Amino acid sequence: MKLKDLILANRSYRRFDQNTSIPRETLLELINLARLSPSAGNKQPLRYILSFQADKNSWIFPLLSWAAYLKDWPGPAEGERPSAYIIILGDTRISPTILCDHGIAAQSILLGATEKGLGGCIIASIKKDILRKELDIPEHLDILLVIALGKPREKVKLEEVKDDGDIKYWRDEQGVHHVPKRSLEEIILK
Ligand SMILES: Cc1cc2nc3c(=O)[nH]c(=O)nc-3n(C[C@H](O)[C@H](O)[C@H](O)COP(=O)(O)O)c2cc1C
Repeated sequence: MKLKDLILANRSYRRFDQNTSIPRETLLELINLARLSPSAGNKQPLRYILSFQADKNSWIFPLLSWAAYLKDWPGPAEGERPSAYIIILGDTRISPTILCDHGIAAQSILLGATEKGLGGCIIASIKKDILRKELDIPEHLDILLVIALGKPREKVKLEEVKDDGDIKYWRDEQGVHHVPKRSLEEIILK
């Protein structure tokens, strides 16, 4: 796939075919892409926890918040939940504050997943204290992001932001998820 097509296909997916499992080896391939990505000062402070087992997935799922703009949707139902998660952690002993390494890593992981016919969603809204306890994550590791992964089972369509400036995504009667994007004219200042 060409880069633009890959970026277009790499949408935030929140409903999946839960029966499609993702093996540990696939997650390692994705994390290898993150490993090879840029890092401020080349410090490489990111660490990862993988989950691809049904029981571990079911502990992690309730600790994540989905699609804040879809007020009436409580998140993916049983059967359409992610098949795997990658938890991105920052080792504060290496870098006390992590600038944007985790964002770059997340995008590398998701582009790799898209190339494999998978998809996912970056989740920053996490019940971090509970996750830390459940997975026994030591204090020197900041919980930065969770990447939910699976075989997408929803359609996502990009839209132009209209004159009213509303950037909230929405879902139509057919269940298609629409995501408004600002125009180039709007975002390029000079
Ligand atoms: C840093 C970051 C944090 C995000 N956190 C959440 C989240 O907690 N829950 C969620 O459902 N989506 C989350 N998203 C996904 C965004 O809602 C999504 O990127 C946005 O709606 C645009 O859709 P698109 O990714 O298909 O372009 C997050 C995205 C980013 C980049």
